[in-house]
Parts: sequence; structure tokens; C-alpha cells
Amino acid sequence: MLLRSLCFVLLALGARADDDTTAGPVFLKEPPNRVDFSNTTGAVVECSARGNPPPDIIWVRADGTAVGDVPGLRQVLANGNLVFPPFRAEDYRQEVHAQVYACLAKNTEGSIHSRDVNVRAVVNQYYEAEVVSEYVIRGNTAVLKCNIPSFVSDFVRVEAWVGSDGTTYNFNSNYDSKYLVLPSGELHIKDVGPEDGYKSYQCRTKHRLTGETKLSATKGRLVITEPVGSVAPRLSAGTSKIQTTDSRRGFSLTLMCPAQSFPVPSYRTGRFCKAKISFIG
Ligand SMILES: *[C@@H]1O[C@H](CO)[C@@H](O)[C@H](O)[C@H]1NC(C)=O
Repeated sequence: MLLRSLCFVLLALGARADDDTTAGPVFLKEPPNRVDFSNTTGAVVECSARGNPPPDIIWVRADGTAVGDVPGLRQVLANGNLVFPPFRAEDYRQEVHAQVYACLAKNTEGSIHSRDVNVRAVVNQYYEAEVVSEYVIRGNTAVLKCNIPSFVSDFVRVEAWVGSDGTTYNFNSNYDSKYLVLPSGELHIKDVGPEDGYKSYQCRTKHRLTGETKLSATKGRLVITEPVGSVAPRLSAGTSKIQTTDSRRGFSLTLMCPAQSFPVPSYRTGRFCKAKISFIG
């Protein structure tokens, strides 16, 4: 009996001690800085925090006012998640779908404010990518481009190229291979001969928000021309450019300038004049 009461007292003390270790809120899941989503997918923005007592989570706008539910368009869940269900194009509302939010966790010991969360909903629009045929002098490098309409170019990227014989060409950086898919999405075909005129090429694009992939509406072919006399080296129109690749650690620049001429350009070590600069920030 005595032992049992002692245990009871100890348990009670233990519970009391737990209650007393109060702690201000700390984020377990802090939402990201940017949330882009498609109207066909919707989005869930997670926010959770621990603390003693368990913190309450609310969402606020940039001006600090609390965010509430908007039927069918925005919902604040009890677990702290902010939900944007899929919606029809005509239900788009700027103050809901293009807004800066922040998550606020609060208990008796204090409150914490997340980073700004830039929410942007994008109404899915039908698009078609196109590839056009290119003229190239035998022995030179052909450059095929995948033209993506500018209204989707923030979200749509080339994923691969597909030849009419079913071959898939993925991104690679082997500058010596016959086929090269550059970070810009261009397909370079080296040392073209008459046999290269029998194939056509389509680009395959991917939408970052919906995950949808599709083939270009048109196919590009190489039209191989025979050199007539000699042609001074000429940079292929519009293809000489700087490409930048962003990454968390910095970015790199690749400068390329494929040229066409006959005889084939004399810088035989490579088909580009190339410069690569990397900054690790
Ligand atoms: C999103 O918008 C597109 C374009 O108007 C529409 O076709 C699609 O049905 C919408 N998605 C939903 C879930 O309503």
C-alpha cells in the first residue's frame, strides 16, 4: 500500500515536472519560399511546430492579417496545413492565388514567424512545341531547336529528343558524341552526311507543375546541302550564346558558337569555340 502511494506520488511529480518545462515554438516543418502550382493539381503547403504548450498555427498575409477559408479555393487545416484545391480557370482569384503568405506558430511562451511564402497558381494552358527543318552543309554540325511558346516557357522544358527511328536522345555532355542535347534544349548533330537527311526529330517537353510530357507538334528534318565552292565560316544564326545553369552552389556559363563552312572549320579539336566559367558562391 505504501509502495503504491509512493509510486503514485512519483508519477504525479513526474507529470508536474513535464508540465513545467514550457518551451516556445520551434518549426518542425517550415514552408518553402516559393510554391508554384497548377490549377489542375492544387497544392498543400505544410507548416508544423513543436513547443510546450503545443503551439497554435495560423496563416497570415504580408500585412499581418490572418488568412481564413475561401470555399473551394483555400482552406486552413487544424494541423497547420494551408490547402489550395484544384480549381476552374474562371475561379482564379488573385488575392488567393497570387499572394505572399507566412505561417505563424504561437503559444504562451512566444511566437515565431516563417519566411515569406510566395504562392502562385498557374492556369493550365494548352500549348504546342515546334521543331523546324534546318539546312546544313555536309560535314558540318546541325542545330535543331525546340520552340516553346513564351506563355509557358517558365514551366516547360525540353526533356529529350526523339528520332523518327524511335531513338531517344537525353541530356549529355559528351562533346565528342554525334548527338548532343545541350542544357538549353538544343539538339546538336555532328558531322552530318547524306544519311542524316532520312531521319526526323521531335522534342519531348515536360511541364514542371503538372508533370505532363508531350512531343512537339511538328518534326524537324535536316536538309543536307552539298558545298558549292567554298563558304566562309559563318556562325549559325542565333545559336551563338551564353547558357547559364543555376544551381544551389553557384552557376556555370557555357559559351558556344557552332559555325558552318566548307571546308569544315579548321578548329578540328572541337566543333565549338567554347568557354566555361563557373562561380561557386
Ligand atoms: C484548369 O484550367 C484548365 C484551362 O482552363 C481547364 O481545362 C481544367 O479543367 C482546369 N482544371 C480543373 C481541375 O478545373
